[in-house]
Amino acid sequence: MSEHSHQCVIIGIAGASASGKSLIASTVYKELKEKVGDHQIGVITEDCYYNDQSHLSMEERVKTNYDHPNALDHDLLCDHLQKLINGEAVEVPRYSYSEHTRMEETTTLTPKKVIILEGILLLTDPRLRELMHASVFMDTPLDICLLRRLQRDVAERGRTMESVLAQYQKTVRPMFMQFIEPSKQYADIIVPRGGKNRIAIDVLKAHIGKLLRA
Ligand code: CTP
Repeated sequence: MSEHSHQCVIIGIAGASASGKSLIASTVYKELKEKVGDHQIGVITEDCYYNDQSHLSMEERVKTNYDHPNALDHDLLCDHLQKLINGEAVEVPRYSYSEHTRMEETTTLTPKKVIILEGILLLTDPRLRELMHASVFMDTPLDICLLRRLQRDVAERGRTMESVLAQYQKTVRPMFMQFIEPSKQYADIIVPRGGKNRIAIDVLKAHIGKLLRA
């Protein structure tokens, strides 16, 4: 990963779906925010950058392979990260998992000293890797990820158990094997067990804390 002397440093967190990426990102964010305030640190989720599919019917939207790199608008994500690095604010899209498309509203994000970026396919894209100062891979066992995903998608993303299991077999697991697992080689830190790994949280907090003080 390259060293940047810009105003905004990007830390990437990748790994399987439901591996604990957002948990570790939000824990590090919340604990540091209490000390330094939210003008210094922010979080971006790759999921916000799923392609806009508002022109497609619902029938067509459910057929999309959401675990393939082509499902994501990395052009827009790279553009936004570059703008933040240059000191400009961006409008982060909002995404609806039940509608499978981008929502009308956006969230304004002002430049921060550190942005934690989390998402499944971040480390597969050389442009994103180049924009990151450091990267983390959540190496959570896949059976744990599947259990969490099943619970979450039924409770929070408007899915049935049958649809979660069918999607897992058809795309989630194969795409993990093809794209996500091989991208682990690019990570600076590999975190076992999941987002509650306290030592990993403290290591990240210490590293980001140093960046914030610099
Ligand atoms: N996805 C979906 N339907 C969509 C868009 C995305 O089912 N319309 C799924 C993809 O299959 C992908 C997952 O969303 O596997 C990506 O989100 P995930 O990484 O599971 O969410 P996070 O909360 O970021 O993960 P974690 O639990 O690791 O924090």
